Amino acid sequence: AITRHYKFEIKMQNFTRLCQTKSIVTVNGQLPGPRIIAREGDRLEIKVVNRVKYNITVHWHGVRQLRSGWADGPAYITQCPIQTGNSYVYNFTIIGQRGTLFWHAHISWLRVTVYGPIIILPKRGVSYPFPQPAKEVPIILGEWWKGDTETIINQAMQTGLAPNLSDAFTINGLPGPLYNCSAKDTFKLNVELGKTYLLRLINAALNDELFFSIANHTLTVVEVDAVYIKPFKTDTILITPGQTTNVLLTAKNHHPNATFLMAARPYATGPATFDNSTTAGILEYHHPPSSKTKKKNSKLPVIRPTLPPFNDTSFATNFTKKVRSLANPNFPANVPKKVDRHFFFTVGLGLASCSQNQNCQGPNNTKLVAAINNVSFVQPSTALLQAHFSGQSNGVFTTDFPANPPFKFNYTGNPPSNIFVSSGTKVVALSYNTSVELVMQDTSIIGAESHPLHLHGFNFYVVGQGFGNFDQNQDPAKFNLVDPPERNTISVPSGGWVAIRFLADNPGVWFMHCHLEVHTSWGLKMAWIVMDGKGKKQKLPPPPSDLPRC
Ligand code: C2O
Repeated sequence: AITRHYKFEIKMQNFTRLCQTKSIVTVNGQLPGPRIIAREGDRLEIKVVNRVKYNITVHWHGVRQLRSGWADGPAYITQCPIQTGNSYVYNFTIIGQRGTLFWHAHISWLRVTVYGPIIILPKRGVSYPFPQPAKEVPIILGEWWKGDTETIINQAMQTGLAPNLSDAFTINGLPGPLYNCSAKDTFKLNVELGKTYLLRLINAALNDELFFSIANHTLTVVEVDAVYIKPFKTDTILITPGQTTNVLLTAKNHHPNATFLMAARPYATGPATFDNSTTAGILEYHHPPSSKTKKKNSKLPVIRPTLPPFNDTSFATNFTKKVRSLANPNFPANVPKKVDRHFFFTVGLGLASCSQNQNCQGPNNTKLVAAINNVSFVQPSTALLQAHFSGQSNGVFTTDFPANPPFKFNYTGNPPSNIFVSSGTKVVALSYNTSVELVMQDTSIIGAESHPLHLHGFNFYVVGQGFGNFDQNQDPAKFNLVDPPERNTISVPSGGWVAIRFLADNPGVWFMHCHLEVHTSWGLKMAWIVMDGKGKKQKLPPPPSDLPRC
């Protein structure tokens, strides 16, 4: 294992998309940002230098950060932001993980353009549990707004209304040929007939779960969230914001007289309006220079993939069910068999009355909020981890986050009229090595909508999932404790529930939130504090000396 050094300079850069030029926040002037490549066991030292007017932090999404919680990155959770002109070195070791993850800004909506892949190769000499691909290609799905996203979210928070939708989805930063004025901004994947490629798909979009497919080609899914799974074949994958999915693609359907598109567009179930446009890229077969079949691509008929309809929940459910751990001796599924603490969280949207300095435009002078167990999380003004470590939680957070909702109701019917949403900076404190079972139920208040919940600092096992109300008496008997998928982000299905288990073996403060950025902004977030254990390797070390101050 070695130490790898990266420098991330946060700077403004002009980019033109959809025929409009705007200045965006980037890392090193790139969109998507630079690739981080490491091997399992390596240490990373990434120096982030802030040269923009915004405060910034960077999160290494899905990296477990075992005893390195100071490097996790969510603003005001594990660190104060890096202010203009300042820098911070994120220093962590990749322990027990290999696969695809990604990094992104973790403050306000800056992750819209501040993101890039993390590729963790197996240790030297260790091969994949599937055939070695000819080439590996990161494919990051994102979103593009013509307007300034910081202005858009700030206005939305001020008015209590939903923010504007994005103007395009993107593949590796490029919207592609199906948007006006965008044909030249198209991602091309060059392949050779007969070869197999590993596509490292990442959903870095802010607010949309996405379907992805390649015309006339079958994909074999081999890994999710940097954990190998039992391979399965599919024409389309579903990927929620915060998830990563590795697929094998064999280039075997060459047709000299056609161009194949890859495409992504939303899976959406809520009543909310959403952008149903499609981003596309081109799968291009490489021809030897002498080949007679070489033709100008623009003249060839373009074959589009058939993506499921936007609201195809049965496709989504079946796809999710196919994802199973390898659960073999090399890659065992270490599902906690006994549970120390049970939690039941409702997740969903709600309405709240307005504060005095707001001019809310929601129904009856209300604003849109989102909550877990009816608590809408209030971002503190200093970092929770710093307050926790120095024993100064007073006035920063309280440890009374409810283990159960304040009242239960039929989540599939009409919600009661008196739903209140409280607010606060509340956390759950867990002693070291507690095994946790958490059931998350979509409330369907203001419409059923799926919520991709992401937990920092852990992988969890998805032991159960269903529709309707979770049934305490019936459902646990059906939990999969044999080969449940191990991941860091899972959608709580629209009008349903999901059950996860994890072992609290990582001391620190760990954020959990909906990875739909608009829901995070509205408060669908909370944090877990895992206390130090007794052993030396069970304690969080002190903070690095350059940790930013608020
Ligand atoms: Cu990728 Cu807290 O997020």
